[in-house]
Amino acid sequence: MDTFYVTTPIYYVNDVPHIGHAYTTIVADVLARYHRARGRRVFFLTGTDEHGQKIERAAEAAGLSPAAFVEQVMARFRRAWQVLNISNDDFLRTTEPRHRKVVEQLWQRMADKGDIYRGEYDGLYCVGCEEYYTESQAEGARCPTHRTPLERLKQSSYFFRMSRYQDALLDHFEKHPTFVQPDIRRNEILSFVRGGLRDLSISRTSFRWGIPVPGDPEHVIYVWIDALTNYLSGLGGFDGAERYRDFWPADLHLMGKDILRFHAVYWPCMLLSAGVPLPKQVFAHGWWTINGQKMSKSLRNVVDPEMLCEDVGRDALRYFLVRETPLGNDGDFSHAALLQRINAELANDLGNLLNRSVAMVHRYWEGKVPPLAQDLRAEAVDRELVELAARVGEEAARAYEGNAPSRALDAIWELVRAANKYVDVTAPYSLIKDPAKKGRVGEVLANFLESLRWTALLVAPVMPDKAQELLAQLGLDAASSAAWPERWGGLAAGQPLPPPIPLFPRIDDDRKAALLGRWQQAATPAQETTKVTDPKPDTSAEGPALLTYDEFSRLDLRVGKVLEAQRVQGADRLLQLRVDLGSEVRQIVAGIAETYAPEALVGRQVIVVANLKPAKIRGVESRGMILAAGEKQVLALSALDVEVPPGTKVR
Ligand code: MSP
Repeated sequence: MDTFYVTTPIYYVNDVPHIGHAYTTIVADVLARYHRARGRRVFFLTGTDEHGQKIERAAEAAGLSPAAFVEQVMARFRRAWQVLNISNDDFLRTTEPRHRKVVEQLWQRMADKGDIYRGEYDGLYCVGCEEYYTESQAEGARCPTHRTPLERLKQSSYFFRMSRYQDALLDHFEKHPTFVQPDIRRNEILSFVRGGLRDLSISRTSFRWGIPVPGDPEHVIYVWIDALTNYLSGLGGFDGAERYRDFWPADLHLMGKDILRFHAVYWPCMLLSAGVPLPKQVFAHGWWTINGQKMSKSLRNVVDPEMLCEDVGRDALRYFLVRETPLGNDGDFSHAALLQRINAELANDLGNLLNRSVAMVHRYWEGKVPPLAQDLRAEAVDRELVELAARVGEEAARAYEGNAPSRALDAIWELVRAANKYVDVTAPYSLIKDPAKKGRVGEVLANFLESLRWTALLVAPVMPDKAQELLAQLGLDAASSAAWPERWGGLAAGQPLPPPIPLFPRIDDDRKAALLGRWQQAATPAQETTKVTDPKPDTSAEGPALLTYDEFSRLDLRVGKVLEAQRVQGADRLLQLRVDLGSEVRQIVAGIAETYAPEALVGRQVIVVANLKPAKIRGVESRGMILAAGEKQVLALSALDVEVPPGTKVR
């Protein structure tokens, strides 16, 4: 039997699920569902990446042990995938014993091959990426991705002789031109590998939260070596495991472009070393921005997938994410665009099609499925519709197979529009006035219903719930939604239909405004409601309200270094500052001019509330706030007892 093994990256549990994670997972789900509908045996794996220094630090910040912390956040991912109707066959956690065993075995295989040696690493490290950077990659000692200061890390380390596999990898790329996709990413990877592969440091001694190196528990295995192995441990390991025999090599590793290099270079080299066949394809999708902005911690709330599912329904969200951008391109998540597509494409195009057809069946055909014409080729309009449906079916299949689900939707909407037009052209509501044409009305309605059945089956991988609802309204059961349409005519003539129920109710202007308001509010963390110019402490009768730890941790406090300071014209108390926050330079207006002269501030380190909503103070934009002591008048500025890099978190 034909098989299909698809994976998502396993998600770091230092962050709760957001739309970026949801996107990768939904696309993998769409492809898994498509291949199942084509009768293939599918294995769809996702999970969580729970080891490493980043997680250890996040746990510490939350005041929990790493084990308790990962348990909590992992549960959020599991729940989100349930809410989004993700049909994964397994959920792998890197803290599970079944995973650890395979990581150890893989390490051993690489060691047996002579590809692991001990040495010393002295380099610049980014904990965010869990990766070393060379001096030339590091831009001014900062991480090129996070823009945060890199840490100098000198430690004894095990190395993987990756350099040995450069030629074999290039040879593989040559022989399998679609191994890395899309082409633009393939070219980037090719030039990276051609630039020369260095040996990879694959163990750490600076923290404990990981899998110990076999035989040397002072070292923990580098988190990427640990994480990538999930694609094998999810199958039970190597040749001895049944799942491995059924599903390896993976058909598709899907991920965001940010982590392609790990999948397209490190992972294949590890497999070459271990003597394991390489996956068939590694596909990198693009990066989502939110309403035109880069996704940041504070913006994540607005794109909480669970909230969006609650507000617009999970299938509408799945549809939007898949339709909005071709897989591989970057996309912008705009709430307005989401509502626009729901109304235009789901409520209007598809919802109306169903409503119109079933309503006419009730009006003109006693609410029962009419029989199809004996000869579907007798009338040109019928023939064209049937042919179009067949072509759309093939195009949608090609698109799903080619990892282009947005193109599948484009094709399917061609059928939706053609079916709407078919009714306009055949005009059953006019034909019905002539008793001699009654039979033709039945044929037209039968074609109309059949085009809906096709649409439902073609769109089911993207909108599984709605496809089922649609089929139920056509008198079909749930089981039939897991199939792929083969021939025209899958409805039972004479079958009574229930009265039509709107598939996607239109979102009217009031509801639109309410939703946009709710999402906007979710984007505004609680502390942002405090005005910069007039901070009023909350002193109720019981004294100041107590913050929970969670509330406190929403504050993003950072060390800033004042680069420039000048007075704000016409405002005696205000200074306009330019403050280096590590990853960026911010303009901040501070009411400290009565205590501090501008020139006294340049070069000083201060503590900045970095995620305060921007405000205009006397017409000058202020993005953040500086902590200072004093009620009405500032008495002293926050400071640090030793100098630390700008951008360092304060907690
Ligand atoms: N744990 C590693 C992956 C190990 S796989 C062996 C990791 N985890 S992650 O949680 O940080 O990110 C996982 C994936 O989430 C990214 O590859 C990407 O697919 C997705 N996205 C996270 N943010 C995103 C956007 N803003 N836009 C699109 N996808 C993004 O990396």
